[in-house]
Amino acid sequence: MENKTVKNSESEVNRLVLPEDTNIFGALYGGRLVEWMDNIASITAFKHARKKVVTGSIDNLFFLSPINLGYIVTIHTFITYVTRSTMEVEIDVQTENVETGDKKVTTRAYFTYVATDENGRAVEIPGLLLQTPEEEKRFSEGQTRSKSRLDALKNMKETVLF
Ligand SMILES: CC(C)(COP(=O)(O)OP(=O)(O)OC[C@H]1O[C@@H](n2cnc3c(N)ncnc32)[C@H](O)[C@@H]1OP(=O)(O)O)[C@@H](O)C(=O)NCCC(=O)NCCS
Repeated sequence: MENKTVKNSESEVNRLVLPEDTNIFGALYGGRLVEWMDNIASITAFKHARKKVVTGSIDNLFFLSPINLGYIVTIHTFITYVTRSTMEVEIDVQTENVETGDKKVTTRAYFTYVATDENGRAVEIPGLLLQTPEEEKRFSEGQTRSKSRLDALKNMKETVLF
């Protein structure tokens, strides 16, 4: 299986916040933003794996500033780290005031996707071809996050499944 570059699967989407996306105070629902993030990040995972993928985990998610009705939301996603069957996708969310053009970073998050076969069993995916020092740095940081994620998963399974 041939390795793929980060650029092969990088994705970006713009959305306009409409009334149905907002709460009674005119701000975007957190859950709606997470839905958009998962949607775009899964496109990145699909493009890398070219297999069925499922969301395995969502790391800590902090919303740094509210996103208001009528704002543009830009969601940029790319792969930072891969293992045999998993992909860590970084998701950067930025908002833009349509009237002033002012931009603000709202959140950065890491979602992990697992590639599976039709029976839901994890399957091998292409490796990541790192092309820049920045991609190498992100890969190494992803490896560190992956270790703590797997520790947390093990702990969760022991607690929930006894
Ligand atoms: C994710 C899932 C396929 C893993 O199945 P599993 O039988 O536990 O898989 P395994 O223990 O064989 O692990 C397979 C790989 O997935 C990784 N993994 C397993 N569960 C994971 C999780 N929740 N988050 C991140 N990585 C996970 C393992 O580290 C392993 O990676 P590797 O092959 O690169 O070394 C399975 O738990 C599942 O289908 N979960 C539901 C997914 C879903 O429906 N998501 C939508 C929201 S509900």
